[in-house]
Amino acid sequence: MADGDALLELAVSIAREAGEMLLAKRPARPEVLATKSSPTDVVTVLDRAAEELIRTRVRQARPYDAILGEEGGETPGLSGPSGEGGVRWVVDPIDGTVNFLYGLPDWAVSIGVEVDGEIVAGVVHNVPRAEIFTAVRGGGAWLAGERLRCNTGVPLSRALVATGFGYGAERRRVQAEVLADVVPVVRDIRRGGSCAIDLCSVAAGRVDAYYERGANYWDWAAAGLVAAEAGARIAGLNGKPANPELTLSAAPGLFEELHDLLAPLDPERG
Ligand code: IPD
Ligand code: CA
Ligand code: CA
Ligand code: CA
Repeated sequence: MADGDALLELAVSIAREAGEMLLAKRPARPEVLATKSSPTDVVTVLDRAAEELIRTRVRQARPYDAILGEEGGETPGLSGPSGEGGVRWVVDPIDGTVNFLYGLPDWAVSIGVEVDGEIVAGVVHNVPRAEIFTAVRGGGAWLAGERLRCNTGVPLSRALVATGFGYGAERRRVQAEVLADVVPVVRDIRRGGSCAIDLCSVAAGRVDAYYERGANYWDWAAAGLVAAEAGARIAGLNGKPANPELTLSAAPGLFEELHDLLAPLDPERG
């Protein structure tokens, strides 16, 4: 069965358990275990342990589902690549690893569940703040029993805009060039350190918009649904779905204004 509510219930219980494990095992000074795409792209023992725990729990409950995780990659379900009934779990075991490393209170366990390529349920558990954002497609976005609604009617000039910087010097140079065009025309910028939490902040009206060049699917899979269910648009440039080239989210209106500012970035425009 691939019912969104049932999938969400399981995702929430797994995200809670992973969060408890991470809080219990996080040493005062976690150590970098390895670097990945660049020296700034770090992974700790606990990123891997949390993903392992999440994979184990998914396997126990739903052995036929496929799993995509930041640390472990793609694992087919027992019955084939897309899992039985097309269910695939999209996992970021710690979104905000650098915050986790430094003891900053914004990192999250993020779990989205796809059916036939579309996310139908998502949970983002901001563990240090004990906040659990959830959404089921068509059922709204929720935090602590309250339905979330993004801010509407905010012009670009008054928008508080969250963004992020992926890893790698060249990518960051481009991100900085983009930022140079955005900072002068908005209220201010926030760089919280977790794409998933940034998108949930759009949903909760804690920021007005979020954009990032270089985020990955597991960063936004769950939180993109939370933002969408709170009334925000989430997409890439020029009608494309959100993608690593650009992930942009805001209420309609502000979305278009930011989109027009960022559109010259589209590599297809030459
Ligand atoms: C990162 C965070 C960060 C974003 C990066 C992501 P990680 O994820 O979401 O805010 O700017 O693009 O890679 O590595 O902490 O899971
Ligand atoms: Ca990472
Ligand atoms: Ca991430
Ligand atoms: Ca991560």
